[in-house]
Amino acid sequence: LTTVKEIYKEREKYLDKEVTVGGWVRSVRDSKTFGFIVLHDGSFFETLQVVYHDTMENFAEISKLNVGAAIIVKGTLVATPQAKQPFEIQAAEVTVEGNSAPDYPLQKKRHSLEYLRTITHLRPRTNTFQAVFRVRSLCAYAIHRFFQEQGFVYVHTPLITGSDCEGAGEMFQVTTLDMNNVPTDDKGAVDYSQDFFGKETNLTVSGQLNCETFAQAFRNVYTFGPTFRAENSNTTRHAAEFWMIEPECAFADLNDNMDLAEAMLKYVIRYVLENAPEEMNFFNSFVDKGLLDRLNHVINSEFGHVTYTEAVELLEKNNDKFDYKVFWGCDLQTEHERYLTEEIFKKPVFVTDYPKEIKAFYMKMNEDNKTVAAMDCLVPGIGEIIGGSQREDDIEKLEKRMDELGLKKEDYDFYLDLRKYGSTRHSGFGLGFERCVMYLTGMGNIRDVIPFPRTVKNCDL
Ligand code: 4AD
Ligand code: MG
Repeated sequence: LTTVKEIYKEREKYLDKEVTVGGWVRSVRDSKTFGFIVLHDGSFFETLQVVYHDTMENFAEISKLNVGAAIIVKGTLVATPQAKQPFEIQAAEVTVEGNSAPDYPLQKKRHSLEYLRTITHLRPRTNTFQAVFRVRSLCAYAIHRFFQEQGFVYVHTPLITGSDCEGAGEMFQVTTLDMNNVPTDDKGAVDYSQDFFGKETNLTVSGQLNCETFAQAFRNVYTFGPTFRAENSNTTRHAAEFWMIEPECAFADLNDNMDLAEAMLKYVIRYVLENAPEEMNFFNSFVDKGLLDRLNHVINSEFGHVTYTEAVELLEKNNDKFDYKVFWGCDLQTEHERYLTEEIFKKPVFVTDYPKEIKAFYMKMNEDNKTVAAMDCLVPGIGEIIGGSQREDDIEKLEKRMDELGLKKEDYDFYLDLRKYGSTRHSGFGLGFERCVMYLTGMGNIRDVIPFPRTVKNCDL
C-alpha cells in the first residue's frame, strides 16, 4: 500500500499513476452516479479524497459505508488545482475490509475531550489525538537523539525497586503476599521476608539513584522510562504512571545541569516544529492560538534564572493574588510557579537554591547550610516541568542529612559507596515527559497526552 504521507510528500512521483491506499472512512457523500469518500490512513495528518462512480459493481455497497469503515482503494491520483485539497484518487476499485456499525461513536462533528476520554480505544482516530500522539512519538525520538548525539549512554533503570528516591512516600507497593492472609512477624508487623523479593518493594518513583551509579562509570548517562507515583492529587498535571527523562552527568555542577536542560528543551521544540509542521499548525489553530509564536520565541531566547529566595520576594509582593500565601520556606504551588513564569518572566525560568526542608535528601547542601543546589524549570501554561539538582558528593554531609531525615543507611549502602570510591561532583534532572508534550502541544490536561492514562480512580483499558 502507498501511504497518504508518501503521496503528499512525493506527489510528483504519484501524480497520474495508479496507487493503492488503505485506510478508514472519515465521511461518505454520494449522489446518484458518483460519490466522495474522505479517507484517513494514519500515516499522515492530512486526509485523501476518493471519488467513486456507479460504473463500479459494488457502488451500492460503497455508498452505504459508515464512518469508520476500513477500505482499500485502487485508482489514479489526479491533481485538482481548483479544489480545497491538492489532489484526489479516481477510484477503479474499492474493497471493503470491514464496514463500521452505524452507532460508531466518532461521527463527523467535534467531540469534547471529556467525552473522548471515555473512549480511549477510539480517540486515537481523531485529528486531535492523531496530532498529540504523533508529536509524543517524535518528542521521545528527539530526546533520544539529543542525548545519543552527545554520547550519553541510555541506562535501563529498574521499575521494581526497594527504595524511595524522593522520600515522599508516594509509592505503589509490589507484593505477591496473600492480602487475605498476610504473614506477620512476632511483633505483628507484615513479614516481608516471605514476599517474592524477601523484602518490601515498590514501583519506582525515579530512576535517579540507579542513574547515579552509571554516571560514576560512564560519566554521561540518561534513563527514559515509566515512573509511578501514588500521589493523591487529582489535577490536570499529575498522573500515577508517567514517563521521565533523567540525565545524570559526572563532573557537572548545577550550572552545567541547567545548560543541559535548556539545550535539551530547545532541541526538542526545534525537532518537533521541523518534523511535525501539520500537527503543530493544527494545535496552533484549534488548541492554543499563541503556541507557535511562543515556541519560536523560546528557542531563540535565553531562559530566566532566579533563586528561590529572590522568587519568594517577587511573589510575596503579589500575595493578594494567591490562594496560598507565599513565605520563605513554603513549597511553591502551581499558582506561584505559573505567576513567576507567565507574569513576571514571560518565558521558561529556572528557580534555584531551594530550602533543604522542601527538597530530597540527595541534594547538595549550599554554603549557607539552609538551601540546596536544586533547580526547577518552570514554563508558562504548566509550571514545573523539570526538577533537578547537583548531588551531595560529600559522604559525611550526606550521612548527616540521611540521619536527620531518619533514612535507613543500610538501604543506601550502594549510594554511599559512590561517595567512597572515586566520588565526583555530579548533577542531573528529571523532565516529566507528559508535561513536556503538554508544553509542546498546548494541550491542557495530562490525561489527553497519555495514550492510556492512569490517574486517581482511573485505570481503564
Ligand atoms: O521533581 P521530581 O519529583 O524529581 C525527581 O524525581 C528527581 N529524582 C529527578 C532527577 O533529578 N533525576 O520529578 C521530575 C519531574 C517533575 O518536574 C514533573 O515534570 C514530573 O517529573 N512529574 C510528574 N509528571 C506527571 N505526573 C506526576 N505525578 C509527576 N510527578 C513528577
Ligand atoms: Mg519536583
